[in-house]
Amino acid sequence: MTEVLVSQLAHVQIFSPRPAETVEWFRNVLGLEQSGQEGQSAYLRGWAEWFQHSVEITEGPEPGLGHIGWRAQGPGDPDTVARNLPEGQWSDGGFGYGKTYRFRGPGGHLNELFWEVERYQAPPELATDQPDRPQALKPRGIAARYIDHVTIGTDDLARDVNFYKDALKLRHTASIEAEPGFKVFATLTSHVTHEMGLVPDFSGIRGRVNHLAFGLDQRADVHTAAQVLMGHDTPIEFGPGIHGIDEITYLYAREPGGMRIEINAGGWRNYMPDWEAPNWTPAQGGTNIYRTHGMPDSMMESFPRTQEAAEQMHATGMFT
Ligand SMILES: [Fe+2]
Repeated sequence: MTEVLVSQLAHVQIFSPRPAETVEWFRNVLGLEQSGQEGQSAYLRGWAEWFQHSVEITEGPEPGLGHIGWRAQGPGDPDTVARNLPEGQWSDGGFGYGKTYRFRGPGGHLNELFWEVERYQAPPELATDQPDRPQALKPRGIAARYIDHVTIGTDDLARDVNFYKDALKLRHTASIEAEPGFKVFATLTSHVTHEMGLVPDFSGIRGRVNHLAFGLDQRADVHTAAQVLMGHDTPIEFGPGIHGIDEITYLYAREPGGMRIEINAGGWRNYMPDWEAPNWTPAQGGTNIYRTHGMPDSMMESFPRTQEAAEQMHATGMFT
């Protein structure tokens, strides 16, 4: 019997030292809809997303990762994970989702797996008669459609890949090896393109995040998004271009709180359960399919940047 435990990446909680500006940027530049505000957190979603939120923005000392929320494939799946990883904890859930099993990956990242979700109900001004859509399309800014993936930093990439393959039954789709046996990038998924990326992180700070990605329909939309960023004075860090891995058209920028946000489209459809993740060499164009240039060094910066901020997050229960 094959076992599938995750149906999709549902939401990611991030921290911002400038939460009001971050929320404003997510609304007006990235074009998400705000669906709620509770305490120190704002909840937002892309216009085509059926759940109550795909990103939670919480005030914190620096940009960073709170938790990664996965929706299970079925109602019993969180129990399966709880049996396999007894060191985690049950919680009542959060904004728009129910009982959840929370556990840390070996790199210190907090994950949640839950089944119960509340569907988004559009207010009258966003109502639509299109049955496949949760709301009408009334685009603002980049008008990101949905969350795509989260990329985390870890001091042992192969260990974390194996953990998520075992714990959540994600499929490992590709790696880049700088030297034989030394991975500098890897991708994992529950469906056809990657939902989790991993980059090396030897800072000694556990549980860091490199970026959060949102998807658009067309590759050309990513080029328009680059111009929207310029129009809003958001500096572009890298792109637009096409990654060789997954063949995704990418664009990276940093929101006002400092978190790197990727905007992407395209990608090939890897349905194969018996796919063996290839080890790309850097020269094969995993990062840039055209093999014309490398990534700027700034792209390897993960968050939070300092141990001090990580400790503050830790002390307030926000972080590892
Ligand atoms: Fe990415």
